[in-house]
Amino acid sequence: MLKVSGIETFYGKIQALKNVNLVVEQGQIVTLLGANGAGKTTTMKTIAGLLKPQKGTVEFLGENITGMRPDQLVRKGIALVPEGRAILSTMTVLENLEMGAFHRNDKDIKKDIENVMQQFPILKEREDQLGGTLSGGQQQMLAIARALLSKPKLLLLDEPSMGLAPLIVADIFKMIREIKDSGTTVLLVEQNAKQALKVADYGYVMETGKIIINGEASNLLEDPRVVEAYLGKKTS
Ligand SMILES: Nc1ncnc2c1ncn2[C@@H]1O[C@H](COP(=O)(O)OP(=O)(O)OP(=O)(O)O)[C@@H](O)[C@H]1O
Ligand SMILES: [Mg+2]
Repeated sequence: MLKVSGIETFYGKIQALKNVNLVVEQGQIVTLLGANGAGKTTTMKTIAGLLKPQKGTVEFLGENITGMRPDQLVRKGIALVPEGRAILSTMTVLENLEMGAFHRNDKDIKKDIENVMQQFPILKEREDQLGGTLSGGQQQMLAIARALLSKPKLLLLDEPSMGLAPLIVADIFKMIREIKDSGTTVLLVEQNAKQALKVADYGYVMETGKIIINGEASNLLEDPRVVEAYLGKKTS
């Protein structure tokens, strides 16, 4: 479904990605792991069209989408839930959800908003509340729900569990599995490597702008290099 081939992305003269190759098969959850500063967010932003690679290509459903604008890519079915959530704090929950459907003009929007509110009951309870007054976990759910309203085929999640309490993290991972089960493909960036590999089908590990390890998620959970660097101390 998604094929990233040899991408190199720069911030000015600083090269953040070096020959990054990765594939996401339709219907899977693929996770991208790595330490702080490895290049995970840069990879996600390059796929979503927020950054242009200097080299390499991004293909989506067989089409070369390299260099397309984020709004064009949303229409093609790629939605990014960015690191830090980026919900609109002075807009209500309902208004935030409506923003997720900004490019649509079909008549199912209302029904789809009702559906995501059923999926995330906390958002229904708080639909008139300002986004900024929600807890971290609720904001993350809102950010994911908003992205789902663009009806993505591929959902890019950048560290959805960051800064959340363990119980809420468990909710988020459960939700990611449900999103997969409903037919949406997921590329998941996570610091919580163990939980990410448990939910994922396939995984990639980045270090200083390069993919250094890739494999079936179940194999990576046992891979000594992964265990030592990313799973060692985590007990969850
Ligand atoms: N706007 C920017 N300008 C210059 N350099 C940047 C910018 N954003 C990121 N970088 C650098 O690019 C490299 C990759 O950063 P990136 O944010 O992609 O890492 P990451 O794997 O997402 O890290 P984290 O786990 O901290 O989110 C880092 O060395 C970072 O310092
Ligand atoms: Mg990041």
